[in-house]
Amino acid sequence: MLELITKSIDESRQGEAFQGDRVTNNNYSKHFYIESYGCQMNFSDSEIIASILQGEGFGVTRNVEEANLIFLNTCSIREKAEQTVRKRLTEFKKIKKQNPGLLIGVLGCMAERLKSKLLEEEKLVDLVVGPDAYRTLPSLIEEAGNGTKAVNVLLSRDETYADISPVRLNTNGINSFVSIMRGCNNMCAFCVVPFTRGRERSRDNESIVAECKDLFEEGYKEVTLLGQNVDSYYWVDSKSNHAVDFAMLLEEVAMVSPLLRVRFSTSHPKDITDKVLHTMKKYHNICKYIHLPVQSGSNRVLQLMNRTYTREWYLGRVQRIKEIMPECAISADIIAGFCTEDEQDHLETLDIMRTSAYEYSYMFAYSERPGTLAERRYTDDVPEDVKKRRLAEIVQLQNSLSLASNQNDLGKIFEVLIEGNSKKSDQQWMGRSSQYKVMVFDKSDPSLEPGSYVHVLALECSQGTLMGKIIEKP
Ligand code: 5AD
Ligand code: SF4
Repeated sequence: MLELITKSIDESRQGEAFQGDRVTNNNYSKHFYIESYGCQMNFSDSEIIASILQGEGFGVTRNVEEANLIFLNTCSIREKAEQTVRKRLTEFKKIKKQNPGLLIGVLGCMAERLKSKLLEEEKLVDLVVGPDAYRTLPSLIEEAGNGTKAVNVLLSRDETYADISPVRLNTNGINSFVSIMRGCNNMCAFCVVPFTRGRERSRDNESIVAECKDLFEEGYKEVTLLGQNVDSYYWVDSKSNHAVDFAMLLEEVAMVSPLLRVRFSTSHPKDITDKVLHTMKKYHNICKYIHLPVQSGSNRVLQLMNRTYTREWYLGRVQRIKEIMPECAISADIIAGFCTEDEQDHLETLDIMRTSAYEYSYMFAYSERPGTLAERRYTDDVPEDVKKRRLAEIVQLQNSLSLASNQNDLGKIFEVLIEGNSKKSDQQWMGRSSQYKVMVFDKSDPSLEPGSYVHVLALECSQGTLMGKIIEKP
């Protein structure tokens, strides 16, 4: 039950295989099937992988039976993510028994973490490829086809795949994702990412802006700029020789077109600057929504987590966001039951949630990850049942905060980008406000379609949705 409630938007897509109809397969004699797990960055990487594989003559398929190659693009962030992948690998092993020529590959963070262990100990896979080694996929596939176990888990200091044009998978043709940097230099004690994705490096601004322009010309209406820590984006522009920071990049992307919405994720509370907030305010098409992971509300725990900010600093950032953009929505990541967390620490987490009045949260029970600072230095000493109970309290509080925020929106008008039919009825549209809120409303005007902007008056709400009606632009 808890799992169901705590599922984040991203997690609801876990293990998603290619679903779209935009990439045709007719021209290919060989096919690959890919499932992606974990963060949006992994889904984005799968689009780079698809591009590399198409260059090698492999078409993408959603049908496992048709595939010559099966890839799982994996996540290591929590133990459960890895368990899901292992289960899936055992299922694929059965398919391989009936089709011995089939190659199975593990890509992404789990490949990086477990390296050749997956080949040697468990004999579940033929290829193991880390997040910085996708360019070598063609030769690795050849090696694996010749019966050699193929591994490349080398991390790079400069790989950004900037020159590779992603093949959009699972796309609705409206929302798109563009990776602006890779890796992470922060060493949060609980987190495996710095070990699986390596050092932080930014992608050149020109290739980012060019990709966003292409997306807009192809009809996309929203781009989300992705990085583990977008606020530390930094690139020296080759033409002007000027340094480009995240605020400047954001501005360049916002200027592609006022009709292209811009989102970004993830911001680190220690790094988000007033310059970024002012840039957000200046451009109508930069969405008024910030994902600002807090992780804990207790200074003692934040210090153990090595988050490098205090609750006072965090609340100062929240206050600044609201001062500059009162309409801005804020969400957080929260971990329940980190090492040594006691009831007082937990109460402080609940308290910072109330004070920040998050619109949404992604909430997790702490899961110890091998090799992390916390695993090496601390004891995972909060009992599972206590973690679960605290997580349930966090989820319950978030549910009430989300409902209160939606109630507060009733009677207000929002600009909404239509994404498609609502889940419940093809007589209704579903779209999102700038604040990332889901809005549902009747299809009153036949000239509207997914990708259209409309103004919607919020009339009713549940905790997850605002129901309303289209009105003339005020
Ligand atoms: N246990 C639980 N949650 C974790 N996260 C990262 N590592 C762990 C872990 N070991 C959460 C953090 C992070 C989000 C992406 O996942 O909240 O912000
Ligand atoms: Fe992990 Fe912290 Fe980096 Fe986020 S900022 S990826 S939580 S180490």
